[in-house]
Amino acid sequence: MSWSSSSWRERPIVQVPAYPDQAKLDAVLNEISQLPPLVFAGEVQSLRSKLGEVAEGRAFLLQGGDCAESFAEFSANHIRDTFKVMMQMAVALTFGASLPVVKVSRMAGQFAKPRSSDTETIDGVELPSYRGDMVNGIDFTAEARIPDPQRLTKVYHQSSSTLNLIRAFATGGLADLEQVHAWTLNFIQGSDQSSRYEELAARIDECLNFMKACGISSQTSASLRETDLFTSHEALLLNYEEAMTRQDTLTPEGSLFSTSAHMLWIGDRTRQLDGAHVEYMRGIANPVGMKCGPSLDPDELIRLIDVLNPDNIPGKLTLISRMGAGAVREGLAPLLNKVKSEGRHVVWCCDPMHGNTIKASSGYKTRRVDDVMEEVRGFFDAHDVAGTYPGGVHFEMTGADVTECVGGDVSEVTEEDLSDRYHTFCDPRLNANQSLELAFLIADLMKKRRDS
Ligand code: PEP
Ligand code: CO
Repeated sequence: MSWSSSSWRERPIVQVPAYPDQAKLDAVLNEISQLPPLVFAGEVQSLRSKLGEVAEGRAFLLQGGDCAESFAEFSANHIRDTFKVMMQMAVALTFGASLPVVKVSRMAGQFAKPRSSDTETIDGVELPSYRGDMVNGIDFTAEARIPDPQRLTKVYHQSSSTLNLIRAFATGGLADLEQVHAWTLNFIQGSDQSSRYEELAARIDECLNFMKACGISSQTSASLRETDLFTSHEALLLNYEEAMTRQDTLTPEGSLFSTSAHMLWIGDRTRQLDGAHVEYMRGIANPVGMKCGPSLDPDELIRLIDVLNPDNIPGKLTLISRMGAGAVREGLAPLLNKVKSEGRHVVWCCDPMHGNTIKASSGYKTRRVDDVMEEVRGFFDAHDVAGTYPGGVHFEMTGADVTECVGGDVSEVTEEDLSDRYHTFCDPRLNANQSLELAFLIADLMKKRRDS
């Protein structure tokens, strides 16, 4: 079956916005197809080989960021603070697991959202659902909810600026291990998590001082001074991905890459075997992810793996399970057993967020930190039983001091607090403190695994 960057157009598709003006959409897509790539083939290949290490149990994947990036929350501080929290989490995990941590952000392109319902009704008024800033506006007015192709161009440019800053932070000094204390955000200082982090940072300082005495410092060693933070998003709007697909001119095989991000994933609502999203994703050379919710059958999973990673290359495919805290142990076991017995190389990653969304009595969409933690524990237990490797976590977080998820063992967010700083454009995110708590839990679980 031949593949091209447009062969998805022949397949049934779900979750597509109804643009009122096709000619305007085509003109915008044509413009985007002429713009420079956002990421480069060499970087994408480097991520794929790092994920190969994860698939083989020699590294751990940390993937996180906004549920939905927005035009309104776009600022250097927002990007910097999310970057810092990712660095803190990575350090906690590297220390706990004694393994390299592959860092992938949900940033610089994570703007389009699948929706359970095409419309939203408030006080008897029914309007098209908000599908992310890449498609329409969040305001509850008929005008805002009309899909506007110009938003695709805006996403491209915002992604480009975000990536520019991420690259600058990663190589320009902020990621230097000697900055390990500077990553703590002011508002979490004094919390239990930050004390635990400070203890860790002090031990790292000690190691760095020892190494300096031996002649190795961040001045002499790029691996202490710099890092990689890769980008990823859900590949929902295939016309945008098609416009961003480019041929790599540097390698002889001239593979086609989506240059909108290093890694793309297929959401739980768009993983139909014969559907458009699977068709697009099977042909690109990027590493791809696929969400695995409770409705996924083990045989269907094998057929999807055959389509998405026919050569069984470790690191090409990441399976992101999102079962819910109560269902993860039983729900994941048949999938783990099947993939293992069929000899497929995949990265198994845990998304403890999307199976645990609840509605607070005040109406806010929220998640209990306890449920998030419990799903991570269940994920590790399921792997223990199956004899497979728990390779990573995928979560929604922000460096901002938001009150969107309830709980956390310090500065606990209660249901009454949700309205204080509830800023998300889609799902509730862990704040910096809750994210760090999650990282320490995973570090402990990895350490236990290593020592057992
Ligand atoms: C998401 O990751 O934001 C998302 C919508 O996830 P899922 O496809 O697993 O529901
Ligand atoms: Co989400």
